[in-house]
Amino acid sequence: MNPTLVQRAQQVLRANDRSGYTIPTAGLYPFQWNWDASVCALGWMQFDEPRAWLEIQTLFSGLWTEGDYGGGSAGLLAHITFHQPADSYFPGPDEWGTQALALRTSSISQPPLHATMVRWMLERAQDRAAAEAAVRGLLPGLLAHHRWWYRTRDPEGSGLVRILHPWETGMDNSPAWDAPLARVPATPRAYRRRDLDHVDASMRPPQSFYDRVVYLMDANRDAGFDPQRMLEAGRFQVNDIGIVCILQRASRDLAVLAARFGDEAAASEMRLHVDRTQQAVAALWSDRWQQPVSRDALTGELLDQPTSAGLLSAYAGFGFDIAPAVQAGLDETAYGVASTRRTAPTYDAPRYWRGPVWQHINLLISQGLAEQGQAALAARIRDSSVRLFERSGFHEYYHPETGSGLGGRDFSWTAATYLHWIAGQPA
Ligand code: DGY
Repeated sequence: MNPTLVQRAQQVLRANDRSGYTIPTAGLYPFQWNWDASVCALGWMQFDEPRAWLEIQTLFSGLWTEGDYGGGSAGLLAHITFHQPADSYFPGPDEWGTQALALRTSSISQPPLHATMVRWMLERAQDRAAAEAAVRGLLPGLLAHHRWWYRTRDPEGSGLVRILHPWETGMDNSPAWDAPLARVPATPRAYRRRDLDHVDASMRPPQSFYDRVVYLMDANRDAGFDPQRMLEAGRFQVNDIGIVCILQRASRDLAVLAARFGDEAAASEMRLHVDRTQQAVAALWSDRWQQPVSRDALTGELLDQPTSAGLLSAYAGFGFDIAPAVQAGLDETAYGVASTRRTAPTYDAPRYWRGPVWQHINLLISQGLAEQGQAALAARIRDSSVRLFERSGFHEYYHPETGSGLGGRDFSWTAATYLHWIAGQPA
C-alpha cells in the first residue's frame, strides 16, 4: 500500500463527486454511469461509508417504474442518469427521447455489477447497522432490475440474456461487435461527437461505430421503449458473455442477500435463473481461444474473439477452465489482462476495448481466479495492476505493452479499484 497513491485516489473521487454521485471523469463523462457507480462505491467504502451507500442509492433513484412509458421497461437501470445538465458529452439528455421521465436517463442498461458490489460492501462495512439498513432499502430495486434483465432480455427463458446496443456491454468498441454491428444501418441524421474534444481519436471508436450506435439509440425511441417492440425491431442482438457473467455472479449474490434479509421466495427465484444460465452457457465455449465468447443472438454464430469479457467466467462461477487462456494472455503483454488478446488479428493496443487494460476488469478476473483456486494466477494479475497504478496513476485505461495511461485522466473507477483492491486488502 502506497500512502501517496491512497491520498491521490481519494482526491480523484472527491474531485469527481457531484453531490451524491461520482462522474467518471470531468468533460468526457459528466453524468452518472451505471457500472461505474458500483465500482466507485467500493472505493468510497474505504474512507466514507455513508457516501458509498449514497452512490448506489442515487443511481437507483433513476430506476424506471411502472409509470414510465407504459411500464414494460419497469426495472430498467439506465446506463447514464442525467442528474444535472452538461454539454460536454454526446449523446446528452435531449438525445434519447426520454423527456417524459421525472429523472432523465438513457434508454439502455449496462453490466449489473450492483448486487455483487453491495454484498462486498456489506461484508466490509464498519457501521453494521447503517449497512444493513442500506442493503434492506436497496433490495427491492436490485430485484426489480434483475427481473427486468430476465423478463425483457430473455423472454423465452433460454438462460442467456441479450443486449440490444454495444454501449450496454460497457465494452463498447469490442471487436466482438464488429460483425453484428456491420448489419446495422448508419444513422441518416447529423450529430456532433464530443468525445474527440477530450481524447485522441486513436484511443476512441471510429466514426462508423458512432453512426450505428446513434441509429440504435433512436430505434429504442421509435419503439416507444416497449421491450417487445424493441426485440422485434432490434438490428443488433447479442448474448454478451460479459453481461452473462456479471449478471450470473450478481444473481448468485442477490440470492444470498435476499435470503439473509428474509425474502426466501426472491432468493429461490434468482437461483432458478442462475441454474438455467449455468445449463445454457456451455454453448458459448470457443475451442479456438479456450474461453467462452459472445454469440450473435440473431444468427446463432459465435463471435469468436478473445476478449477479457469471457475471462469473467471464473468470477461468474461457471466452472470453465480459463487458466490457460489467462496465462497465455499475460505472457503476451507486460501489464495485465488486455481487453483483446495481443495475438488476435483485431488487437489495437491503445483503442477503446480492442487492446487496453482496464483495472476494474483485472480486479474481477483476479477475484474469480482466486475463488477458483488459482491463487498464483490471481496474484500475478494483481501484481501487474500494482505496477500499473504506481507507474501511471489513475487513467481510464492503459497500454498493455508500455503501461502508459490512456483515455480519460483522474478516472473514478480506476481510483476506486485501487482503494478497494490494493489499499483495502493485505498483499
Ligand atoms: C461513451 O460515450 O464512450 C460511453 O462509453 C458510452 O457509455
